[in-house]
Amino acid sequence: MNTKVSVLGAGNVGATTAHLIVQSGLADVVLFDISDGVPQGKALDLAEARPLWNVASSIVGTNDFGDTRGSDIIVVTAGLPRKPGMSRDDLLHANAGVIRQVVSETAKLSPDALFIVVTNPMDVMTQISREVSGFKSSRVIGMGGILDASRFRTFISFELGISPEDIETIVLGGHGDFMVPLPEYTTVKGIPLKEFIAPERINELIHRARNGGAEIVALLKTGSAYYAPAASVFQMVKSVILDEKRLLPCAALLDGEYGIKGTYVGVPVILGRNGVEKIIELNLTDDEAAQFSKSAHAVREMVAIALSK
Ligand code: NAI
Ligand code: 2OP
Repeated sequence: MNTKVSVLGAGNVGATTAHLIVQSGLADVVLFDISDGVPQGKALDLAEARPLWNVASSIVGTNDFGDTRGSDIIVVTAGLPRKPGMSRDDLLHANAGVIRQVVSETAKLSPDALFIVVTNPMDVMTQISREVSGFKSSRVIGMGGILDASRFRTFISFELGISPEDIETIVLGGHGDFMVPLPEYTTVKGIPLKEFIAPERINELIHRARNGGAEIVALLKTGSAYYAPAASVFQMVKSVILDEKRLLPCAALLDGEYGIKGTYVGVPVILGRNGVEKIIELNLTDDEAAQFSKSAHAVREMVAIALSK
């Protein structure tokens, strides 16, 4: 039987994620949305692209949770995106209600699934998804650090005129204003970044990466980024389906790692068929550890606000 991936939310991130999965032929896809006709129309359009991509996996668009039954992976993108002037955190209350609904409905129908949560504020929505589903924490994971790292890699690549493929980095912390890019763990084909760029300029690139989501919101004016976010989700989906065991920065529930317990926050994990198979603990400088702790604290505060409603 083919792997089945349900994508909740057929908007920009959801539809682009469905596109990447269908084009890869890695799984059958169900595209779910509350909006009548939109998931059906996008799914039919994607189905009609399959002959050109030489893939035969199925794609169904639906407003019926029943069609998600038996999913192996559920990607959660349902909710509102950022508009100009809005922070990810402004989305908290509106999206918490959406997440509670879509996760509780789909978890019942797919008890063995793995959730990949995208909806913002992502770390908080991932924590809510875990509580609502009751799933093991290794099977409820948030996407943020891959995107943040990809942006930092891109800006370094622009700066140096070197392929972004050869730039490696890790971004820790919540997917928000307090994310923690790690220049000490950033290399160009294994060569430390500081051998290429002066510290002040590295700080400017870090600032741009932190602001990467808002930069795109300001340009688009009517929504937020979706090509790089969907590519980030696809990397996670692929690592799970093919059991690649990639080392990727994802939001995972910490149980004492980095001195934090009971909070979802971005850390490097090994991602395979069983979801988060290992959390990697890095040695951080005092400054990095303080930034990480501040970021986790910001997530914890928002979770408390979301749960108090
Ligand atoms: P979008 O507005 O294009 O799509 C959202 C979709 O969710 C819409 O089609 C809407 O009809 C649907 N929806 C709303 N309520 C629903 C419900 N109760 N049940 C099912 N579907 C529902 O937004 P976009 O750009 O796709 O972003 C989706 C979310 O992902 C936003 O919260 C955004 O902030 C977040 N995001 C997170 C990123 C990350 O790195 N974690 C990166 C990019 C976006
Ligand atoms: C981003 O970083 C809005 O979280 C979204 O683009």
